[in-house]
Amino acid sequence: MAGGAGLGPMASFLEALPGRARLFYGERSGSLQVDRGFLSRLAPGAVAVTEDGSGYGLRGLATAPLEVALGKDPRPILACGPPAMLAALASLARRNSVPLVACAEARMGCGLGICLSCSLPLLDGSNLSVCQHGPVIDGLAVDWGWPGD
Ligand code: FES
Repeated sequence: MAGGAGLGPMASFLEALPGRARLFYGERSGSLQVDRGFLSRLAPGAVAVTEDGSGYGLRGLATAPLEVALGKDPRPILACGPPAMLAALASLARRNSVPLVACAEARMGCGLGICLSCSLPLLDGSNLSVCQHGPVIDGLAVDWGWPGD
């Protein structure tokens, strides 16, 4: 699952493992989408979604077609995108009993684990510094502040 600029890291993953994953790509609007031909070459069969329906693909949230796909074929989710998307994916992953590997976006001040500007709260009450322990993390361990977490 790639949300917005989260497509960059997912592109590297898809190129490294061609044909092994299905891409769900969400953007707010069509003006933010990558070129359709690029997406087709990168990930044949990718599902593109825009929130406002102004681009190619489906209208709505990319989690909706992902949920349908997970219902038919549960698989681990690898995701990069904004926190709200990762929060929704954590709920989705729990409902479908699949892992969520998240590439977390965070503002970073020091990059040394000192300033805590990149800190994420975990469900066990501790915190995780994305600069020290990420950016790839167990998305199910994070308290995304989402109902149902
Ligand atoms: S950027 Fe300062 S603790 Fe992570």
